[in-house]
Amino acid sequence: PGGLVVEDWDALTFRVNRIAYRSQQIFRRERDRIWARTWLYLGHETEVAEPNDFRTRVLGGRPLIFCRDAEGEIRVFLNSCPHRGTVLCRETEGSTKLFQCFYHAWTFRNTGEIAAVPGRDAYEASEGFFDAMKLRAVPRMAVHEGFVFVAFDPDVPPLLDYLGDAADYMTMVNEQHADGMEVLPGTQLYSVRGNWKLAVENAMDGYHFSPTHNTFVGYLRETGFAVTDDDQYAYNLGNGHSLLVLTGHGGRISMLWEPRFGEDEKRRTAEHRAEMDRRLGPERARYVADESHILYVFPNLLLFDLEGLSIRQLEPAGPGRTDVRAWQLAPRGEDEDTRALRMKTMVSFVGPGGLATPDDIEAYEAVQRGIEATADDPRAGLDYSDMSRGMVDEVKGVQGRSIDEGAMRGFWRHWVRAIGVADGLAVTGTRPASFLEGRNVR
Ligand code: FES
Ligand code: FE
Repeated sequence: PGGLVVEDWDALTFRVNRIAYRSQQIFRRERDRIWARTWLYLGHETEVAEPNDFRTRVLGGRPLIFCRDAEGEIRVFLNSCPHRGTVLCRETEGSTKLFQCFYHAWTFRNTGEIAAVPGRDAYEASEGFFDAMKLRAVPRMAVHEGFVFVAFDPDVPPLLDYLGDAADYMTMVNEQHADGMEVLPGTQLYSVRGNWKLAVENAMDGYHFSPTHNTFVGYLRETGFAVTDDDQYAYNLGNGHSLLVLTGHGGRISMLWEPRFGEDEKRRTAEHRAEMDRRLGPERARYVADESHILYVFPNLLLFDLEGLSIRQLEPAGPGRTDVRAWQLAPRGEDEDTRALRMKTMVSFVGPGGLATPDDIEAYEAVQRGIEATADDPRAGLDYSDMSRGMVDEVKGVQGRSIDEGAMRGFWRHWVRAIGVADGLAVTGTRPASFLEGRNVR
């Protein structure tokens, strides 16, 4: 068979051509067809909580300034000096009303207007020339539940239409606490020698848990904690988005297996659960509190609502390299002890040196190395990766075996449509209509 993604319902196989993870040409196409044309997660509004706060960030290879102007409005500019293109702001975060370019010292307000040009009279500029020298705003910016998205294409659909069912899961994150959530100071930054799509697949992959994280699983068993992969479900939410649901989890402040999770934390968790019941009603509270989620929003956002809430942003730096940025979300106004325990849990579990994340990074990197090994010889029969687990029931997982790859297949179908490869390289086969049915908790 040929093609980037091959779906054969008679043979019950779904295959992804491995060039999708290693080709420079496909990487460039992703930049043009995905990163330049769809909504991208930029950051959380609480990262620029006060007027004049700013952060700089790179999305799809483009340096950006993410700031709150003197009037309190959120703005996103291309971080490129209108004079000759220099990266204007070279700090990662801070507070300022003015951005001054280091090259010739042209200076801009955080509303985008030019504020000063040293030696202005020496420029033989026509009428209105300097007024037109404004910072370029990113064409589209929209905020949902505090999550700030941008698009470089002015013609993208409204953000809520794009997010679809993913929007409600983002609402749930905020509903966990009556006063809402804020991003804690500090960014975790690390690079992975693997294609960005491996991180995406891994976030939908519930069944790697026991084998990949076997050190952690062994530790859990020693502490008497039951471990199973069975009560996990992966849902395709459409538009490339997905949700991995893990049932049977409780406390949000810290993990139940944490030795530091004592009577006090158990009491606080129970109180919080009761408060959610009152505030949200039992059905909604059950979704918000008794399930853990890993939400993926195509193409670059992962929200880990396990115990502790983390945001991860994927920035592909090449076909074989991904820069990851991660932040922790926490309830506003939380007391100091709870916050400290939350931070410890975060660092010891989903942080880049924690109990879980290094195993996952090793998985991405090992897949990438293995894929490079099969690069040039299609006759070896290893030129496709197989994603056929649970093809019979893509929505709910196979009966009695609840973890499948339906969400991954949803991602790949969307990806192929988005990059718009030429005929013969597109998805082949048709999926039965019943598989279009999604999961909606509203
Ligand atoms: Fe920025 Fe000249 S390039 S002032
Ligand atoms: Fe993992």
